[in-house]
Formats: sequence, structure tokens, C-alpha cells
Amino acid sequence: MDVEELRDLLGNEFAYIFNDIIPVINGLKLEKTAKILDIGTGMGRMAITLALKNYKVITGEPENDETEYAKQDWLESARKVKVDHLITYMPFNAEEMPFEDASFDAIFILGALHHISDIEATLKECFRILRLNGIVCVFEPNSDGIKIIREKKFPTHPDAVDPRNYVRELHFLSELIKRPFYDTYILRKQ
Ligand SMILES: C[S@@+](CC[C@H](N)C(=O)[O-])C[C@H]1O[C@@H](n2cnc3c(N)ncnc32)[C@H](O)[C@@H]1O
Repeated sequence: MDVEELRDLLGNEFAYIFNDIIPVINGLKLEKTAKILDIGTGMGRMAITLALKNYKVITGEPENDETEYAKQDWLESARKVKVDHLITYMPFNAEEMPFEDASFDAIFILGALHHISDIEATLKECFRILRLNGIVCVFEPNSDGIKIIREKKFPTHPDAVDPRNYVRELHFLSELIKRPFYDTYILRKQ
């Protein structure tokens, strides 16, 4: 699906984020059979973008999250672009995840890490459930991105975080890719 078709179906905001993150996803060259987790479902932009690339994704957020960021209509959006069959939703808390050790090839966290209370515990859990050489791909808005979010949507939105500050004791190799909206951190388990 091209970005104009996506804009017609899901709107400008979705299309803008899609354009920002798609080069990063393409660059990762994940196998089509990769086992993928998306932490922090929200509006479903991350899970839907992965599914539009034909990846199967498990996505979730805490059942008891009553903030304006959670329980959005991601399923309706996924149905509009006909990828709902590729997305499995299950509630979970990223600080203590219900998944086996070394069970994922890739974990994506888009615009969500700064909303999680215990970031260190979350990244430790990511390390545990990733296979060797697997990746965590964290998209955090850059300073312009945060400004736009606060002006247009959420005036009290928290600051972005740098995940590298929370993984000093874990064997991750990190890379930073700067995009117009997101700073993207790719942490590879060594
Ligand atoms: C702004 S939304 C993320 C946007 C979303 N990733 C997207 O692609 O549209 C923030 C998300 O973080 C989730 N979140 C907050 N604390 C969490 C936790 N402890 N574990 C998992 N998800 C959490 C919220 O429930 C919400 O879904």
C-alpha cells in the first residue's frame, strides 16, 4: 500500500508516521517469518505499519491503563487497511512480560518507552525475551516531535527518553538513526 492510499484510509497523522519509520523498518531486513513484539499498542501505528509490510505482530499494553494514550481504536484502523489478521493483541505489562526467554527476533517500542514507569525493568525484560542477535527498535520523538505533540495533542506530554541510559549493564550494541520526527535506537542483543 502506498502512502497516499494510507492517507485516504487512516489520515494525515498515520501517513506522516508511516513515512518516518518505514525506511528504518526496511533497513532492518527482518525475515518474513520473524517473531515480532510491539510494546504499547496505543493507536496501533507501529503494529499496523509492520503488518502492512507483511509481518505478523503480537502487540499489547497494560489492561489497567486508563490514560488517554491507551485503548485506542487500533483494530478499526487495522481492519480499514485489511491487516487485522496479522496482528494479535494481548494485554501485558512490559515491566514483567508473559513471554519465554529468547522467544522474539525483534521488539518495537514506538512513542511508548517514555510512558512506561520502570524503563530499566522493561529493557531488561526485552533483553531476556530476545534471542541472541535479536533487536529492540525504540522510536522516541526528537525535540521537534515533542513540540508538535504538545502543541497539537497532549500539552502535558512527557519528555522523550534515551534508552541507552537504561541498558548500561546489558550486552546490547546500539545504533542511532535520526529521522525527521523520531530518533530511532536499535539495540542488538550480543
Ligand atoms: C502513545 S501510546 C504508543 C503509540 C503506539 N505505539 C502506536 O504505534 O500508535 C503509549 C502506549 O504505551 C503503553 N504503556 C504504558 N505503560 C506500559 C507498560 N508498563 N507496558 C506496556 N505498555 C505500556 C500505553 O498503554 C500506550 O498504549
